Amino acid sequence: MNETKRYTITAALPYANGPIHLGHVAGAHLPADIYARYLRQKKETVLFVSGSDEHGVAITVQAKQEGSTPQEIVNKYHALNKKSLEAIGISYDIFSRTTSPLHYATAADFFTTLHQKGVFEKHTKEQYYDPIEAQFLSDRHIIGSCPYCGHARAYGDQCEACGTSLSPEELQNPTSAISGAKPILKPTMHWYLPLHKYTHWLKKWILEEHKDFKSNVYGQCKNWLNQGLRSRAITRDLTWGVPLPLAEGTDKVLYVWFEAPIGYISATKEWAQIHQVDWEPFWKDPNTTLIHFLGKDNIVFHCIIFPVMLQAHGTFILPKHVPANEFLNLEGLKFSTSRNHAVWLHTYLEAFPNGADVLRYVLCSIAPENKDSDFTWKDFQEKNNNELVANLGNLVHRTLHMVHRYFDGTVPANLAPTAAEETLLNTLRTAFTRVGESIEQFKFKEALQLCMGYATLGNKYLTTQAPWHMIQNDPTAAGTILYHALQLIATLALLLNPFLPKTSTTIANMIGLKENGWGATDISNLIKAGEPLAKAVVLFEKIEDSAIEKQLEKLQHTKTLSQPA
Ligand code: 2FM
Ligand code: ZN
Repeated sequence: MNETKRYTITAALPYANGPIHLGHVAGAHLPADIYARYLRQKKETVLFVSGSDEHGVAITVQAKQEGSTPQEIVNKYHALNKKSLEAIGISYDIFSRTTSPLHYATAADFFTTLHQKGVFEKHTKEQYYDPIEAQFLSDRHIIGSCPYCGHARAYGDQCEACGTSLSPEELQNPTSAISGAKPILKPTMHWYLPLHKYTHWLKKWILEEHKDFKSNVYGQCKNWLNQGLRSRAITRDLTWGVPLPLAEGTDKVLYVWFEAPIGYISATKEWAQIHQVDWEPFWKDPNTTLIHFLGKDNIVFHCIIFPVMLQAHGTFILPKHVPANEFLNLEGLKFSTSRNHAVWLHTYLEAFPNGADVLRYVLCSIAPENKDSDFTWKDFQEKNNNELVANLGNLVHRTLHMVHRYFDGTVPANLAPTAAEETLLNTLRTAFTRVGESIEQFKFKEALQLCMGYATLGNKYLTTQAPWHMIQNDPTAAGTILYHALQLIATLALLLNPFLPKTSTTIANMIGLKENGWGATDISNLIKAGEPLAKAVVLFEKIEDSAIEKQLEKLQHTKTLSQPA
């Protein structure tokens, strides 16, 4: 364990107002998990945190519509999402929630520190107010005609028909999305984070010192900074949220985007309490590398707003990397919660109860790392059948099958290595470095492809060397080949561990692999001659057309309603 440095890894907190879908998994949680597992395998000190984002207007509106309470809604979805994320092997050290008392206290303290330092501005502005519901309306909850394209149901922050960003005052004939009432303008006071005051600092920190940010992230930050930053209100007139810890604002709460990222810190504290350790090094020690994983819609919050908050607070470290992904689409259309055009993680797991690693494999191999990508059921089936079953599964199965059949299930001796074996081992000797380099550059798709290349290599090696032809006349040579095939499989089990943890463990158990680190010292002798192998189990099952058709039918009825990606 390397005690002098450590990693704090975060995956964007999903809103607990609905089930999470494959887009959330591909965008943040899977890449964060691959990275965390890789670091743990390298024996680094890692803390991987996430949790549910349980505030925000959407949750209150939904509760009203369902005749339920916000707390009931978040309780339900927090439990569901936690369970399904863990079921696909996302190895959080803690999956917390922003309605925890510890989070309320942490967020309130954070606000108070900034308040006492005089960081905030206070402004009174007129805002739309729903006279029937007796509440101020968020921009999303004001509907009216778009002044640009005439679309009748544009939102106060954006017209989804023409894509223009709007402010609520621009809408013609505004109505409240909650009650349908005509909203009135009413003055209200709020606390603002003056982002513009940090422009110079942000330009230096990101544009000069973080040229290593992914190009999509760097580009978005550059745009925001060049457009000019403005003060952002960080309080809201709501009752659902973290109460503003000031006597003059008891009817207000902290803006969800102010307190949600503090949720990473609260989660760390909660974990530290459970394990009776100090949370502070994970957020304050310069030897800690802080990395935020998220989707592109969250870049501004993690690269601009939250860093400004951390910097203004004064004692926190800043993120070293923010490897944001682009979006995952579904069958050529945007994932849409409201239009139900989605594959929900929990329903996926109902349809494919043993499908955790298959999903991880497919989502990683189509990861939207540099541009939006598309999940299709046909591709899912093909990747499972042609790559997992026919390549990886087949390699493991045929090798174990032969060792059981020809050598009574005992690892044969390496008595007659030839140039072919030397070449194979030389290739494997660079594998950890090559795959590790891709992972460290957040190129998970490339890293996984490299791994699968070793599976292809193993199959070619077996096919070319054909131990089944020599078993009668030269069992020593056949044994040597199988010995090497087993070393390759062992290497592969280690390499694949961050990507396909269940499969990796299953393989390791079958072949009796003891080693579990990254970069094994001697890949030529991971599995010792004379050791018994366990019985072979099937790693991946073929997915039939009927299973795919079923999933496509489920989606069909929503297709016409959804927007092109
Ligand atoms: O976009 C979202 O789903 C937000 N709930 C992400 C929050 S990330 C963090 F700041 F908490
Ligand atoms: Zn419009």
